[in-house]
Amino acid sequence: MNRNELSLLLKEHNQEHLLSYYDNLSQDDKYKLVAQIEKIDWKLINFIHHGNQQQKSGLYAPLEGMSIEQIESNKNLYYYLGIKAIQTGKVAAVLLAGGQGTRLGCEGPKGMVNIGLTKEVFIFQLIFNNLLDTAKAADTWIPLYIMTSIKNNEQTISFLKEHDFFGYPKEFVTFYIQDMTPSVDYGGKLLMEAPGQLSLSPNGNGGWFSSMIKADLLSDLHYHKIEWINVFSVDNVLQKIVDPYFIGATIATNYLSGAKVVRKSNPNERVGVLCLEDGKPSIVEYYEMTDEMINERKDNGELNYAFGVILNYLFRLDKLEDILKYELPIHVVEKKIPYLSVDGKYIEPTEPNGYKFEELVLDMIHLFDNCLPFEVIRENEFAPIKNATGVDSISTAQQLLIKHGYDL
Ligand code: UTP
Repeated sequence: MNRNELSLLLKEHNQEHLLSYYDNLSQDDKYKLVAQIEKIDWKLINFIHHGNQQQKSGLYAPLEGMSIEQIESNKNLYYYLGIKAIQTGKVAAVLLAGGQGTRLGCEGPKGMVNIGLTKEVFIFQLIFNNLLDTAKAADTWIPLYIMTSIKNNEQTISFLKEHDFFGYPKEFVTFYIQDMTPSVDYGGKLLMEAPGQLSLSPNGNGGWFSSMIKADLLSDLHYHKIEWINVFSVDNVLQKIVDPYFIGATIATNYLSGAKVVRKSNPNERVGVLCLEDGKPSIVEYYEMTDEMINERKDNGELNYAFGVILNYLFRLDKLEDILKYELPIHVVEKKIPYLSVDGKYIEPTEPNGYKFEELVLDMIHLFDNCLPFEVIRENEFAPIKNATGVDSISTAQQLLIKHGYDL
């Protein structure tokens, strides 16, 4: 695309400011910028003019979960089936580590944050230890795929190499990089982070499977005869990873997917709730729930919409391949986005200043015919590190870890 064509295209979309520095760029940087502009999905930018919701939601109904008591009464069977699936190499793990941790305000990858009190204890270390627990119980190594973004890939890899993968054999660890999307300010203008560089951010954790395929890893999964994939976030330091009980329960009940859930601590807790939407499993965000849904109770007094998700899912690989043909909804998310000001200064905002576009793994659930809500005990398995202070912060996670006997 030459300069004229570029100009016309950007004029059409009201984004001519992207050429402000163009004429002074090196030939190489010009090519790079043009390549980025050519890749822009213009329909994304229009979302912000049409509100946050791309699609109207359907009809919600409660979805019964598998309770702790039910799990307990079948635990031998579930453990047997789960551990067998792991030992026969049918299960892989995917660690979502491409996020930017803007709420926590960390400089590099969130996994590199040290949450120790008297010694170094890194988030990645706790995650690897959790996976090691399962590997030891199953007496086998589980293939681990780590999704990073172009922004944190190098740092993540060198950090993990430096720490010898916290005892996990590196032959069982594969990295891949997720896709990026442009960000805009509140007026819908695309932001730049350097004269020849759009401000690009990771496209949300929903891109984990499509990015895996782009990285040519599907053949790898097939080669290893993987049937199930456990996907989980980097920031819940207490979660059990590739949990044999969870896998066994999903297999025993013939479900195609599963989600670890916790019972809501109160009706208004700000968590996504696993339910049915038009007869299919779905996760309704807390802000999408009506007061009636929030407070609806069963005869025994329990909440009807009782189970919040904790970003630990199990998917059957063949079904993941089936749903690839569907597009996931786009979420327009307010974030702090570093940008180049009109006078060419690099600004790192302290408050949100624009929107990013994200696909979310929770939307994949709705593309499955069923999903098992598998209840776990909150204080045993849910210690997310999202914020710098207050709820779901380093200090709340530390308290929970100490309660569980961790030496921090
Ligand atoms: P969050 O939704 O908490 O996002 O990610 P985040 O980027 O880590 O933090 P904030 O919202 O900017 O404060 C939940 C999980 O999904 C991963 C994160 O690394 C985390 O494990 N994630 C998120 C990705 O892998 N890619 C993304 O684009 C976004």
